[in-house]
Amino acid sequence: MSQRLKTGLALTLLCGTFTVHAADRLPNVVIMATGGTIAGAGATSTTTVGYTAAKIGVERLIEAVPELKKVANVSGEQVFQIASENMNNDYWLKLAKRVNEVLKQPDVDGIVITHGTDTIEETAYFLNLVVKSKKPVVIVGAMRPATAISADGPINLYNAVAIAGSKAAIGQGVLVALNDEIQGARDVTKTNTMTTNTFRSPELGSLGYIVSGQAQFYRASTRKHTSETEFDVSKLDSLPAVNIAFGAANANTLAIDAFAAAGDVGIVYAGTGNGSLSTPVRARLTELRQQGIQITRSSRISNGPTIRNGENNDDKTDFTVSDTLSPQKARILLMLALTKTKDSKEIQRMFYTY
Ligand code: SIN
Repeated sequence: MSQRLKTGLALTLLCGTFTVHAADRLPNVVIMATGGTIAGAGATSTTTVGYTAAKIGVERLIEAVPELKKVANVSGEQVFQIASENMNNDYWLKLAKRVNEVLKQPDVDGIVITHGTDTIEETAYFLNLVVKSKKPVVIVGAMRPATAISADGPINLYNAVAIAGSKAAIGQGVLVALNDEIQGARDVTKTNTMTTNTFRSPELGSLGYIVSGQAQFYRASTRKHTSETEFDVSKLDSLPAVNIAFGAANANTLAIDAFAAAGDVGIVYAGTGNGSLSTPVRARLTELRQQGIQITRSSRISNGPTIRNGENNDDKTDFTVSDTLSPQKARILLMLALTKTKDSKEIQRMFYTY
């Protein structure tokens, strides 16, 4: 048994299902790096657009923030190194399996994942559904590359490590930490293409703040997550093929025809308004459902639920609705749902549960 493990066991008190850190030891936090702008490098200190993401390795990210040592014993692991527009199902499975493996180690108190901001909300929600632990998992990114003046990466990383090592974050699901705010994985979304306050949980609100290294929570998600979900990716090598089609004026069936022809088993339709479908799109989606493809109605609008049997008779067409999930998050839940069942009533239950 390693010295670190022995120390961790000696100083960790188990209280119900929660781990309480002994007051006289720092938490052990593993930083898993995956790339993104937080690891990006620009040509000059004023380059904040047009830089290269995913250049700097995890050890350098950690070295750049010596203050981390004051809030945690940190170790780093480079899981992969990508710009997050290249995130895909294979990377998600690899990351989720590794996170679950590391969280099983008794001497690990929490994990921070550094990630590109473009798809951070999707990775956060995926992990929120498949991580099997109450220990904190905090995903962090930056809007400015590491080489920029006033880079936001170092303070965001410091905050994320402080949250991951805090008792307050235990059992809160996967969290996203940028701009001194703590957001829940289910509700957070990127709202601005370039500003540092881009991450918001529209209407439903952030979970809290990080103030001088202290995580302060004001609310919690009411939806089930992490150790409470029915999803298990430990034995999966791939996820069911599900794609998103986008509704707009002049909406036609070209995209959904192509998805069906390519063998998709599910389609999320980001409809207009409350998930409305044009007449040709509704007719084609109804046919595809009869052929066995699961259809989930969602909305291109960033606020509010897509209501079952509102703009479509979902009971009759046997579609599901995404509730308040965005199309990109509905795709994730539909993929995971399809690893468990083909029953649309069960899938609808999952959309109201997670
Ligand atoms: C990325 O998502 O990898 C690039 C953009 C960013 O991290 O802000």
